[in-house]
Amino acid sequence: MPQRPYVIEPMISAKAIAARVEALAGEIAAAFAGTDKLIVVGLLRGSFVFIADLVRELDLPVEVDFLEASSYGNATRSSREVRILKDLRGEIAGRDVLVVEDIVDTGFTLWHVRTLLAARSPKRLEVCALLDKPSRREVDIRATWTGFVIPDEFVVGYGIDFAQRNRNLPYIGKVRFTE
Ligand code: IMP
Ligand code: MG
Repeated sequence: MPQRPYVIEPMISAKAIAARVEALAGEIAAAFAGTDKLIVVGLLRGSFVFIADLVRELDLPVEVDFLEASSYGNATRSSREVRILKDLRGEIAGRDVLVVEDIVDTGFTLWHVRTLLAARSPKRLEVCALLDKPSRREVDIRATWTGFVIPDEFVVGYGIDFAQRNRNLPYIGKVRFTE
C-alpha cells in the first residue's frame, strides 16, 4: 500500500527519554522493593525499546516476558477489538507483575490486557506506560506510572511505529503529512 508522504518532527529527545526512564525505574524499584522476582511484561511490539532500557535501570530481580495484543491495522485509527496474538510464556499467579506499554491512547488495549492478566490472580499488577494521550481516552483507565503525557498527535520512534516504520528512531517524533 503506498504511503502518504510525511515528515517526522522531533517531540521528545533521546536524552529526555533516558532521564525519564531512569526516574521511572527508581519509582518502580521503590514500589516493588523486596519482591522475590518482578515479572516485567512487555506489550509487543511497540514497547520493545522502552522495556530494554527500563529493565537495565531497574535495580530488582526481574524476569522478562512478552505479550502481543493487536488493536491496530496499518492505520492511525484504533478499533475496539483487541486480539491476543502471542500470550505469555510464564505463569503469573501469585507474582508481582509490571506491564510495560508504549502508548495509552483510547485505553482499550490496556483495559483488555489488564483484565486478561488480572484474571490470572497475580499478587500485584501495575502498569508503566511511556506515553499517555488522555484526550483520546474512551475507557477509564490509566497506567500506574507514565513517562510523558502528550497531545493528540500520531507519534513514532523509540519502538513505536507508523505502518511498521520508524521504530528505530532513537527519539520520539510526531508524524506530519506533507500532502
Ligand atoms: P489504544 O487501545 O487505543 O489505547 O491503543 C494503544 C495502542 O495503539 C498502543 O499500544 C500503540 O501500539 C497504538 N498507538 C496509539 N497511538 C499511537 C501513535 O501515536 N503512534 C503509534 N502507535 C499508536
Ligand atoms: Mg501497542
